Amino acid sequence: MFTRQKQSKNSSRSRENKLLDLEAKYCSWGDTVHYTDKLNIFDRSEGVYLYDKKGTEYLDLQMWYSAANFGYKNKRLNRALKKQLDKLPQLACQYLHEEKILVATKLAQKMERTYETKGRVHFNVGGSAAIEDSLKVVRNSTGGKSLVFAFMGGYHGRTLAASSITSSYRYREKFGHFSDRACFIPYPYCFRCPYDKKRDHCDLYCLKQFERLFESEYYSVVNNKTNNCEFAAFYIEAVQGTGGYIIPPTDYFSGLKEILDRYKILLVDDEVQMGFFRTGKFWALEHFNVTPDIVVFGKALTNGLNPLSGIWAKEELISPAVFPAGMTHSTFSSNTLGTAVALETLKIMEEENFAVSVPKKGEYFVSRLKNLMRKYPQIGDVSGLGLALRVEICQKDGFTPNRQLTDAIENIGLSGNLRAGSKKRGLILDVGGYYKNVFTIAPSFYIKESEIDLAVDLFEEALKKGIAGTAA
Ligand SMILES: Cc1ncc(COP(=O)(O)O)c(C=O)c1O
Repeated sequence: MFTRQKQSKNSSRSRENKLLDLEAKYCSWGDTVHYTDKLNIFDRSEGVYLYDKKGTEYLDLQMWYSAANFGYKNKRLNRALKKQLDKLPQLACQYLHEEKILVATKLAQKMERTYETKGRVHFNVGGSAAIEDSLKVVRNSTGGKSLVFAFMGGYHGRTLAASSITSSYRYREKFGHFSDRACFIPYPYCFRCPYDKKRDHCDLYCLKQFERLFESEYYSVVNNKTNNCEFAAFYIEAVQGTGGYIIPPTDYFSGLKEILDRYKILLVDDEVQMGFFRTGKFWALEHFNVTPDIVVFGKALTNGLNPLSGIWAKEELISPAVFPAGMTHSTFSSNTLGTAVALETLKIMEEENFAVSVPKKGEYFVSRLKNLMRKYPQIGDVSGLGLALRVEICQKDGFTPNRQLTDAIENIGLSGNLRAGSKKRGLILDVGGYYKNVFTIAPSFYIKESEIDLAVDLFEEALKKGIAGTAA
């Protein structure tokens, strides 16, 4: 028996090596990242776990960058997909089907309830494509203005236009300029304040600096005689995602909106990563008492079962009178499989009380991580909103970013050799942040308290090994 088990392990290892050789030869590496030392090949998933071909269990704390919020192989959502596969699996998007209309209706009515604002929903595939559509709506409704504000550290996708409003120059470096770049404004990242202020006494200095741009025409933003601003919109993530799950001060966005309204600058709220209760509210922006003009969504709407994305925009920006048929089009937008799952996801969100369960689990997770922070000076910051949690890894001074240790911990998790509990396990962590030293933790909404405990134990073990291995 023992020999047979050993043989099957050896043969699965050699199959894995063969696959890795094929990947190295035939897969473009340009469509993803190869950050880690070891490239894992996964075989199946269930709940909060991924499994490799050897059957090693990996607790996933990033859930496909927050696309699989409702757990892997969620039975109800998988059933909705299978049902649609047998009913109406394909349909050109110029024809109508019930689920498309109902998803749009539910989202638009949700906006009416929350913001008392009428609007419409427009579909596409993938977050970046929806960002592109929002840029068209912005340009169309502002007489073709093509300049926007966006945040330093912001992420809006990797297509040409989406990366032109995404902060990282690296994403644009090789491709020249296609569309206009955003003007990037410092995000209120209080742990590393761009103005070296302390939150308790800053009086939102960063917001005042933004406001100053409008004081004189010679600051290059506005014609003070006509009040006409050269910038059409401000693209925000209410909680910065790839930037490191950064939570802004509560009153920042309401102050920002006041300034934008003075100059008729649209507020575009990118909820691709934080939408659908990641932060404990349907939209992350709901924490900040501000009404957006456009909302962009994607990822978790289908729990990752289908790349359905879209935008909601105020009626005056997107009614057929101003944004008629054919202004954008994709073969797969509003596809039947994606909208069927999306409809079921929206029903789950109506029926379950994520507004209570997500913050409760988040608070417990943060409290356990804060205990670790007290033990290890290398953890510089822990915070969270709902189940969007951040752990910032630093040098022993608790502040200087420590990318080497962060990478080591991520790789140790992926090795699948952690021992917390009785069996060998792995831990899946995602790294973000301006210095690539932040674990952006986005567990399944259905994670149990015992699984949070296991996650923290696995994390501590990886941290200890990382500290020992990097002499941090
Ligand atoms: C806030 C935000 N906007 C846009 C995108 C782009 O979405 P996609 O990767 O589906 O194109 C992402 C992806 O992570 C995101 O986090």
